[in-house]
Amino acid sequence: MPLKTINFQDNKLILLDQRRLPLEISFFQAENYQDTAFAIKDMVVRGAPAIGATAAYGVYLAALEFKNKSKDEFFQGIISAGETLKSARPTAVNLKWAVNGMLKILFKNREKTTEEILTILKTSVHEVAREDIEINKKIAENGNELIPDKANILTHCNTGALATVDYGTALGVIRKAFSSGKTIHVYIDETRPRLQGARLTAFELQNMEIPCTLIVDSVAAVLLRDGKIDLVLVGADRIANNGDTANKIGTYMLSEISQRFNVPFYVVAPTSTIDFCLPTGEEIEIEERDPEEITHIEGKQIAPANVKTYNPAFDITPAQNITAIVTENGIIKPPFKDNIQKIKPSLA
Ligand code: MRU
Repeated sequence: MPLKTINFQDNKLILLDQRRLPLEISFFQAENYQDTAFAIKDMVVRGAPAIGATAAYGVYLAALEFKNKSKDEFFQGIISAGETLKSARPTAVNLKWAVNGMLKILFKNREKTTEEILTILKTSVHEVAREDIEINKKIAENGNELIPDKANILTHCNTGALATVDYGTALGVIRKAFSSGKTIHVYIDETRPRLQGARLTAFELQNMEIPCTLIVDSVAAVLLRDGKIDLVLVGADRIANNGDTANKIGTYMLSEISQRFNVPFYVVAPTSTIDFCLPTGEEIEIEERDPEEITHIEGKQIAPANVKTYNPAFDITPAQNITAIVTENGIIKPPFKDNIQKIKPSLA
C-alpha cells in the first residue's frame, strides 16, 4: 500500500514523519491543533500544499476541541487556533489560504448549530485534501507538454507526494512524463540544510523507478554549464503577482545559472500558492530557521560552538529568471504581471 503523507482517522491526524525518512517509516499523531502546529513547525510534514492541508485539519481538530463550549467560545477558540496554525511557518501562503478558507466556511455558517458546523467543516476539510490531489494531476497534465523525450531534468528540494496530499507538483510533472512513456532522467539537488532532495525526492523517485542521480547542490552549476540539463523544474511556497517566487533556499542561485546558460527554468505550483494581492516578492516574509540545522548533522555538532550563522529557509527568484509557471489552470508565460491575473480563480 502506498504511504500516505496525511491521513485523518478516528478524529486524529496521522502524518508520515518526514523527519525520519527514508531510513525509518514512522507516523506522528496529532490529537489537537497544538500538535498540528508543532508538526508543521518541526517539519514532520512540509511542502507548501501539504502544510496547507495539514493546517486545515488543524482547524477541524480545534473545532472538535471546543465543541462543548458556548457558541462564542467555540468561535473564539477556532479563530485563535487558526492564528497559531498560520504562524507555524510564515513563507508558504498555502498555510494562510487553507486556514482562512476554513474560517470563511465557519463564519458563513455561524447561524447553524455547533453540530451542524462540525459536519460542514469535516466535509470541507476532506474536500481540501481531495482537491489537492485532483489539482496536482491537472498540473502534471499541463506541465508534461514542456518535457521533451530524453530530457535531463534538474530539480530542487522535494515537490512530490510527500510535499502535497498526494501526487506532487514539479515531481508530479516528472511522474506524468515518465508514466506517459518518455525516457527521462532526473538530477536531484541534495538541498542543504534539511536535505529534502537526498532524503525525500531520491526516496520517491527510486520507489517509482524513475532514473535519477543525486548531486550535492554545488554540482548544479557544472551540469548546467556543460549542457547536461535540458530544463529545471522547481516548486514554490509563494508566488507574487509579478511572478517573483519564494521557494527553498538555493532556488534563486539555480535560476541565475539557468539564465546564464539559457536553460528553461519552470516553476510548478497550484494557484493556491499565488498570492494575488502581493505586488512583488520583496514583501514575502522569509522564514529563518534554527542555526542547528547548519551547525549539526543528525544531532552531531560539526561547526565550532557559537559560530555566527544565517539560515534562511527560502529565497526569492525574480520573475525575469522564470521561463513559465505551470498551474492547474494552465501554463503562465511572461509578462507574468498581466498573465497571472488571467488565471485567477474567481474566489481568490
Ligand atoms: O521547507 P520545506 O521542505 O517545506 O520547503 C518546501 C519547498 O520549498 C517546496 O519546493 C515547495 O513548498 C513546494 S512543495 C510542492
